[in-house]
Amino acid sequence: MKNLKSQRGLNSIWTDSLAHNLRPDSNALVDHLMTVHQKHTGFTEECASSCRDETGRNSYEWLAELVPVNEKLRVLDLACGSGLLLKILFDRNKNLNLRGLDMCPEELELAESRLKNSGVDLIESKAQNLTAIHDNSIDIVLCHWALTLMDPIAPVLNEVRRVLTPKGRFAALVDGPMNAVPRYADVHNLIYSYAKDEIPSYGEVDLGDSRIRGRESLSNLVHETFPKGNITIETKVVTIEGPVNQVSEIAAGFFYAAFILKPEKRKLMLANLANMLTIPKDSTDFERLGRFSMPINRLLVDLI
Ligand SMILES: C[S@@+](CC[C@H](N)C(=O)[O-])C[C@H]1O[C@@H](n2cnc3c(N)ncnc32)[C@H](O)[C@@H]1O
Repeated sequence: MKNLKSQRGLNSIWTDSLAHNLRPDSNALVDHLMTVHQKHTGFTEECASSCRDETGRNSYEWLAELVPVNEKLRVLDLACGSGLLLKILFDRNKNLNLRGLDMCPEELELAESRLKNSGVDLIESKAQNLTAIHDNSIDIVLCHWALTLMDPIAPVLNEVRRVLTPKGRFAALVDGPMNAVPRYADVHNLIYSYAKDEIPSYGEVDLGDSRIRGRESLSNLVHETFPKGNITIETKVVTIEGPVNQVSEIAAGFFYAAFILKPEKRKLMLANLANMLTIPKDSTDFERLGRFSMPINRLLVDLI
């Protein structure tokens, strides 16, 4: 049961467990993610689509590039959220047979409205149990910004292997190494310091399986499920520049910790974040401009 009387910005079984110094289980994790995504539906695409690499691509486009154009392939977007990746894939190649899956009905509703008349099949399900999808029936499974949140992760990877064809491909966009961006850790630490103020043990238990966040641990984990797969992990940095208040909102959106703050605390956190992200100003500037960069990793597993 959630404690609805609590004064936090957001209440879930996860936050209640942490507040009582208990270790949240996988049901608490699902409840927390559902609570965030019901309250802030579509926030991921708002943040992730605004951050671009040196050639102008956002992380959805970078992941989508792993799907060949002009081929009739069956592609599954695992934890598709509001469906932006599916829309990009559809616009690039109308011959694809596309399916999206997510556990959050509110996100799927957004996806459905965006993908009207596209023939994309949307499924409400957890990634740990893909019963709606037959064995060996998918050529490419993609997962954008969601693998990090899944715990237990082993059943997810086993299901991906089951649904993929023997020469299939699995690719995921996940967190990159913090040290790839100077001062990224400062942004992380600032947001977590506010979250810890709200719940002192926040951050002691990871949201999802922490092995996804490290290059070597991710490679080892994936190798257990795909021992013959060809595994590569590439790192990239994506950036947003603009009015600093807007940049701070986008930056905060990448951290689930920011969603548990009460409105007044969130305001304070955003003001501090804005100071941190402000680009040193030219005396002629009217508006404070800011910049936020973040590291991302692209995992690719090609089955042989
Ligand atoms: C950060 S959002 C990413 C959404 C989308 N892929 C994007 O990048 O726009 C994470 C998504 O993963 C979904 N999700 C998390 N854990 C899941 C699970 N075990 N099974 C299915 N969906 C899950 C959430 O409902 C949410 O829509």
